[in-house]
Amino acid sequence: MSNSIDSIEHRGLLEDGVEGSRRGEKSFIQSLSRSYSESRIQKSSLFLLFVSLAFNVLFAVLYLEPSCQSEKPSKYARLTRVREEPYVITTPYSSDNETLQNELWYNINVDAAVVALSDDWVARHELRRAQRFPWDQSKGIYILHGFHNLHCLKIVYISLSEYRRGVSQTRSWHHISHCLDALRRQIICDADDTPRATDRRVEVVSGLHQHRQCRSWEQLEAFAKQHTACYKRPETPDETKASKLDRFKHCPPDSGYVVTDHYVPTEELMEGLPEESIQNQL
Ligand SMILES: *[C@@H]1O[C@H](CO)[C@@H](O)[C@H](O)[C@H]1NC(C)=O
Repeated sequence: MSNSIDSIEHRGLLEDGVEGSRRGEKSFIQSLSRSYSESRIQKSSLFLLFVSLAFNVLFAVLYLEPSCQSEKPSKYARLTRVREEPYVITTPYSSDNETLQNELWYNINVDAAVVALSDDWVARHELRRAQRFPWDQSKGIYILHGFHNLHCLKIVYISLSEYRRGVSQTRSWHHISHCLDALRRQIICDADDTPRATDRRVEVVSGLHQHRQCRSWEQLEAFAKQHTACYKRPETPDETKASKLDRFKHCPPDSGYVVTDHYVPTEELMEGLPEESIQNQL
């Protein structure tokens, strides 16, 4: 384009005499028709550019703008961010009513953490094989990480609550520091980059009037239920003397599992299971 009309005009102006000017006219007409066809090519390239731009904008709107909604579903339970919630100063879990606070924390139940997943499903999800589930040898026993974290938070709460009430500790320091470390690693792993707005106010809080997109805990529970390992923690310390196998005997009626007292594990069974509810009665 840059060497079309402009440069030819200049050439015409620079040439002397009639012949020269006639040649100039001729080449001017040629250049006009050439630039006309060039402009047609240009028009179609412009059109293509437009189409490409439109697609780019569409792509950006669909995939980049609402980054929360378009986040890929989680790898295992296929959870998406379906719930919006504000940052708040308190919830009943930090209520001034300590009776209520204790009730809520102590009632956190993580039995659903323990699931039985088929070796097929596990292979498809690039997980490793786990210890055998007693009522179906083609399944392994797994603990869902979110529940594990919640269990950890719960025992830290229990320990602090016991300290505050001046009663003896029911959890070992070893277990508590393991849990604090697990939560520390979760935070580091998540590397949450949300800027929380600060205000000049007395309460130590930020991010007020901001919202975040959350996954649904209920959907995680539903996934856990769908893959139940029929697990139930012992309710009283006495029951801890019972075999670990007993914890897996709480199958819902529609599970299809046949529970038997004569099961002989092929390996040392049921290590690394949540223990937090033993001796935690208030
Ligand atoms: C504190 O919470 C407990 C348990 O929910 C409730 O029974 C009690 O009435 C509450 N006390 C006050 C003062 O609100």
